[in-house]
Amino acid sequence: MTPALRGNTAGRAETGAAPAREGAAKARGGGLARRTFLGAAALVLCGLGRRLRAQGRRFLRYHPLPRPVLVPRNALAAPGRARRFQARAVSLPTAANPDQPVRVTGLVTRISDADDAPDRFRAVCAVCPHERCEVDFVGDPADLHPDVIAETGPVDGPVYLCPCHNSAFAAADGRRLGGPAPRGLYRFRVTDVTDTSVVIGEVEEDVLLFF
Ligand code: FES
Repeated sequence: MTPALRGNTAGRAETGAAPAREGAAKARGGGLARRTFLGAAALVLCGLGRRLRAQGRRFLRYHPLPRPVLVPRNALAAPGRARRFQARAVSLPTAANPDQPVRVTGLVTRISDADDAPDRFRAVCAVCPHERCEVDFVGDPADLHPDVIAETGPVDGPVYLCPCHNSAFAAADGRRLGGPAPRGLYRFRVTDVTDTSVVIGEVEEDVLLFF
């Protein structure tokens, strides 16, 4: 009796263990499927985030200046130089100081001498978005201090450098290369080039919240 009982008991135990193993296997399978699904979802979200960030860069919102800035064209005859200018604008209704006249110091440089199309010139706000010091133009990146290069990595074109805490920005588009600034330089848009002037007609809308 005892062995048979043991056998039956073992049999019941075996019969009970099989569904338990199946259950565990299903649970493991379900966990794997969930992890695969979550991994795929994370990848999709990352891709979406990257696309949105790229679109954000492509679709920066610009605001027309009440009066365009005219910079003498002969001051920007060749790349490697920058010219400082002052633009007048009005802060946005949603700014901390809404609807106020603001003066924004900018810098414009030529990035190519292929022709005189407006996109051969780039203009940025000269005020560093970290603590508002004014940046300087460094036409030759070989002139950058080694400590700056250590942070930015190799730089292959002119740079704007903040003298206060060494934030560095590419002169070609104002993007941040290194340093504590939380973002790149705010931008202006060159809207026309006439026989005599480089015309800066628009400013990135965020500048009108910043001041
Ligand atoms: S104010 Fe420009 S880096 Fe601090």
